[in-house]
Amino acid sequence: MTDQRVIVTGAASGIGLACTKLLLDQGARVTAFDIQGELMAENLPADEANLHLVGGDVSDPTVCEQVVAETITQFGGLDALIHWGAAHSSARWDELGADECNHIMAVNVTGTFLIAQAAAKPMIEQGKGAIVLCTSTSVLYGVTGGQGQGGPAYVASKGAVIALTRSLARALGPDGVRVNVVSPGITETAMIEEYSEEQRDNMKQRFPLGRFAKAEEIAEAGLFLISDKASFMTGETMHVNGGSNFG
Ligand SMILES: NC(=O)c1ccc[n+]([C@@H]2O[C@H](COP(=O)([O-])OP(=O)(O)OC[C@H]3O[C@@H](n4cnc5c(N)ncnc54)[C@H](O)[C@@H]3O)[C@@H](O)[C@H]2O)c1
Repeated sequence: MTDQRVIVTGAASGIGLACTKLLLDQGARVTAFDIQGELMAENLPADEANLHLVGGDVSDPTVCEQVVAETITQFGGLDALIHWGAAHSSARWDELGADECNHIMAVNVTGTFLIAQAAAKPMIEQGKGAIVLCTSTSVLYGVTGGQGQGGPAYVASKGAVIALTRSLARALGPDGVRVNVVSPGITETAMIEEYSEEQRDNMKQRFPLGRFAKAEEIAEAGLFLISDKASFMTGETMHVNGGSNFG
């Protein structure tokens, strides 16, 4: 892992924060990017040589270009993007309005495309790169929202990320850029903070391992996919869900 120059999104919290810390521990140089810029600065260690922070919205194309440009200025290039950042919506089908639906699509679908597009350009120039996106087990399960669970806008947006991964993998593969997607099961982060204790106990019964994931366990899948150990993987969905969704 040493010496990789990586952009990590969603780095203020949860899986993105865990991923940034793991990468720094392993000697990578990281641009951490999140809309919650202050929280990100509070949660990450000051490390001017190896860590660059950018606060901003991933659905803004100018910001995405800026994140990539600053990474190249700071670290001399870009080897990988791991994009965990996402907006959540638990509105059920009969509660969801156009504004919330459009916002979730703008952040989770358009934003995912924009940061991948910006990152792919320098990777194509150097003939090598790895992009990791993030979907959700909720796409397999078809969760319906309410009580903090993903609703139709969130689930649809995460389904689109799988399709986007495949389209980008085919488009960028000939230039040496691999694109894969991690599909986490339920993970102990801010995204599930509205779950009740009863709900958590019921949901854990779906998990052969009897528990939800730790953020680090999902982050490790991202680290594997950007490494040369995954050099023949592209367009793939990597499921990391404690067995909650097989069969
Ligand atoms: N926690 C789970 O149970 C779970 C399950 C399946 C998939 N996921 C996915 O894992 C990824 C990480 O989520 P998490 O669980 O760590 O949640 P989290 O809420 O802890 O982290 C999400 C991060 O994304 C950032 N973000 C939101 N909107 C943004 C925007 N417009 N621009 C830039 N950053 C933005 C947030 O500020 C936050 O720091 C997400 O893609 C999520 O959909 C999570």
